[in-house]
Amino acid sequence: MRFLLPLSLLVLLAAAYQGGGSARRRRAVWTQGSEDNSPSPSDTEAPFRVRINPSFKAVPPGSSVWLNCSSSCPLPENSSLHTGLQRGQTLRGSNWVSFQLLDVRAWSSDVHCFVTCAGVTLGAMARIHAYKQPHSVILEPPVFEGSEYTLRCHVTHVFPVGFLVVTLQRGDRVIYSESLKRFTGLDLANVTLTHAFPARPRDLWQPVTCHARLNLDGQVVHSSSAPMTLTVFAWSTASKALASTSIAALVGILLIVGAAYLRKYLLMQSRQ
Ligand SMILES: *[C@@H]1O[C@H](CO)[C@@H](O)[C@H](O)[C@H]1NC(C)=O
Ligand SMILES: *[C@@H]1O[C@H](CO)[C@@H](O)[C@H](O)[C@H]1NC(C)=O
Ligand SMILES: *[C@@H]1O[C@H](CO)[C@@H](O)[C@H](O)[C@H]1NC(C)=O
Repeated sequence: MRFLLPLSLLVLLAAAYQGGGSARRRRAVWTQGSEDNSPSPSDTEAPFRVRINPSFKAVPPGSSVWLNCSSSCPLPENSSLHTGLQRGQTLRGSNWVSFQLLDVRAWSSDVHCFVTCAGVTLGAMARIHAYKQPHSVILEPPVFEGSEYTLRCHVTHVFPVGFLVVTLQRGDRVIYSESLKRFTGLDLANVTLTHAFPARPRDLWQPVTCHARLNLDGQVVHSSSAPMTLTVFAWSTASKALASTSIAALVGILLIVGAAYLRKYLLMQSRQ
């Protein structure tokens, strides 16, 4: 039996979940006090400066982060942080406040810090990204049946899935590549890519590999599997059973979402 169809996808979600629910974001309002009693000698410059440090940070999902919001105001009236993230400890100095943010899980979170000095309020923003390099990329031994090879690759514990591209290669040549852009879940996930292709004599003994690439706004995190060899020999009954399921599905991507993480996330959201 031959598959002349282009690839079709089967998506199974282990946990029914609503994708795309990005972290609730409170719209920050940039307020300015009365302009006639500015403490600065210059009318055109901001009366003081607000800085948030670091202004950009990438962490594994579930981590906590410290952000230090400081200003050039000698005696700030108050400082506050606006974020959808869970708050931890706070440390204060005379013109700085250091905030701990807990359990960062959204791929991207914006955090705003506001400082009021002599009646004027100014703000600064920081962005936190959460990602996790796959724990493992495993290519099963290729299955040869009829006139086809079937490759199955497992990428485990990866986040965010929407930024993941899984590629199967024969030597340096790409056999198949799939972007998981449409998955917007906020959990660590396991992804299985299955691909069947017609066997050609020159494929025999060729090494095949599976590659997982997370493209994080320019920064690329790359993991690959150990190479496997394309053969025409017998395979175990287990992989034969797997092969027939995969043929029934033609080509499938199986995405398993950690239901536990989802529950925790929803709980966190409902508490805010
Ligand atoms: C926060 O930043 C201020 C100004 O740069 C610095 O003096 C202070 O030590 C920092 N606090 C912490 C906890 O890092
Ligand atoms: C400063 O405190 C006042 C009074 O508590 C409050 O209305 C204001 O929003 C605060 N400003 C900031 C930047 O948090
Ligand atoms: C993902 O795969 C790993 C390793 O096979 C397993 O331990 C883990 O439970 C899986 N996670 C989910 C959410 O299915």
